[in-house]
Amino acid sequence: MCCISSNLKPFLYASGVILVNAMCLFNWFISIFTQTSIQMKIIIINGPNLNLLGKREPEVYGTITFADYFQELQHKYSSIELDYYQSNIEGELIDKTQEVGFTYDGIILNAAAYTHTSVGIGDAVKAITTPVVEVHISNTFSRETFRHQSFIAPNAFGIITGFGLKSYDLAIQAILNK
Ligand code: DQA
Repeated sequence: MCCISSNLKPFLYASGVILVNAMCLFNWFISIFTQTSIQMKIIIINGPNLNLLGKREPEVYGTITFADYFQELQHKYSSIELDYYQSNIEGELIDKTQEVGFTYDGIILNAAAYTHTSVGIGDAVKAITTPVVEVHISNTFSRETFRHQSFIAPNAFGIITGFGLKSYDLAIQAILNK
């Protein structure tokens, strides 16, 4: 019959507690590591005049500022990294598209008026590997004919147009369900 000396018992108990704590710590590290390493990265890129949302033609684009709407989106999709960039300058939009276009999981691009004019932004979308969802707040096909043309569409993963600010939310869902 085997018996443990009473002197050894506190020592064995203490080592057991240390072992369990060490395993918990290890699991915690692993979960932090996997959470951060697999977190999806999506960026919304807005083009010219979209910094004026809330006060620009409210009958077409609504009364909510993009900053407020973006906060709602970040809250709704708190498990992903959701970034935002806006510029009124064509070259800056191209630079940002190139910068994120090989590492992010998705780009939601509302190039605004440049959608209908910019070969450069169209080429940037073609050059990158990250899927791009072209987004418009208004239904561009129910407006002037010059808005029916898109230099982004041929190389976009998809197009969402005409659902108000909700178009951005739908685009996130399209990327998440890809
Ligand atoms: C827009 C539509 C474009 O035609 C226009 O130039 C914009 C906004 C939209 O989101 O509805 O600036 O992209």
